[in-house]
Amino acid sequence: MAEEIVPVPVLVEEARKVFRETFAGEEADTAVFAPGRVNLIGEHTDYNDGFVMPMALPLVTVIVGKKIEGNVVSIHTTTKFSDCEQKTSFELPNDCAKVRTLSHDGPKWAKYIKGVIANYIGENPPAFKAVVHTSVPIGGGLSSSASLEVATYIFLDELTGNKSVSLTDKALACQKAEHEYAGMPCGIMDQFISIMGEKDHALLIDCRSLTSTLIPLTDENIVVLITNSNVKHELTGSEYPTRKKQCQEAALIMKKVSLRAAGLEDIEYLKSINTDEKILARARHVVTEISRTETAAEMLKQMNYRKFGELMTESHRSLQQDYEVSCPELDRLVQLALEVQGVLGSRMTGGGFGGCTVTLVYAHVAHKVIENIRSKYKGNPTFYICKPSQGASVV
Ligand code: ADP
Ligand code: GAL
Repeated sequence: MAEEIVPVPVLVEEARKVFRETFAGEEADTAVFAPGRVNLIGEHTDYNDGFVMPMALPLVTVIVGKKIEGNVVSIHTTTKFSDCEQKTSFELPNDCAKVRTLSHDGPKWAKYIKGVIANYIGENPPAFKAVVHTSVPIGGGLSSSASLEVATYIFLDELTGNKSVSLTDKALACQKAEHEYAGMPCGIMDQFISIMGEKDHALLIDCRSLTSTLIPLTDENIVVLITNSNVKHELTGSEYPTRKKQCQEAALIMKKVSLRAAGLEDIEYLKSINTDEKILARARHVVTEISRTETAAEMLKQMNYRKFGELMTESHRSLQQDYEVSCPELDRLVQLALEVQGVLGSRMTGGGFGGCTVTLVYAHVAHKVIENIRSKYKGNPTFYICKPSQGASVV
């Protein structure tokens, strides 16, 4: 069985209840949510100016709260962490310039929120009390962190009444928060889709121009099955920036602004000058993945799910062999999914080294994939059957 997905209104009610319990019976007057995401194709291409094609999930982070007098922000998260408190409070500096350098103290989870406050565009956000509640699995590669950042931004918009900032600039502010306060040099995909996702659509994002195209994904016969391996290998932190540097190095050798500007002929050139094997393989993944994503977008428009699925599986092979960001658990999950007839394609999704796979499958056989994995996979996976859902909104 797949996990039950808690509807947004239910999550909001639960968060409101925790707010009353936490803040002596007071009522929250503002509620927002922002979704996690799954990337259908276009992996490790966003920071190379390439294309990505994620969709917003029905798994969301909710923030409920209210503006208060004074300068003390108090936040409670319903998520339990073994190494830090669920509650935190901190002072907002009165001076606008100082808000930009808000301290990095406190529990790790609060840094995402502080980063967004520090990078909020426009007037200083006021002090507030809030409860954070989520249905996005934490650390599972479905972007619980980006959904927390985006929910925070939308929450602050409600408190300030600021309506003048573009969605792209909000996404960029949230990305900056993650760079500066979580120390993760991520691309723009997660924040962009969390803020711009639409029900029944995947989003093709051009990470060079920061423009995007909604592509319908409404066929009732097709579902997106997410399998969470529930493993996360610890090298994730160092591998991501290393890959990013290797891509920059490859682009430099080719005298290109980024790998987006490179083609297969440039990969041949790298070969001809005996470029380091790893650099060559990283570049080959990115160049082929960008092209696969463009083709996949066309296939989705034409509702050619068979070809779309094949491209997903090719993407996995490239991430496994050339980019080396998969792991035995993800490879096994992909293999077990592909064993089932009616599966169109399967791949790891997100940064890699654990987290989730995404499988495109005919709706009537999704349960067979789950059964096959449950009976043969040595681990404790969880499953989500998802349709593309709405981006960040006020409730
Ligand atoms: P993910 O793929 O889920 O984004 P990350 O490791 O990038 O994984 O981010 C997970 C971190 O984001 C958590 O360890 C925590 O610090 C923060 N986070 C995400 N959601 C919440 C939440 N609801 N409450 C508190 N912290 C959260
Ligand atoms: C994520 C990161 C994204 C993207 C992805 C790989 O963890 O936040 O920006 O680079 O990895 O496609």
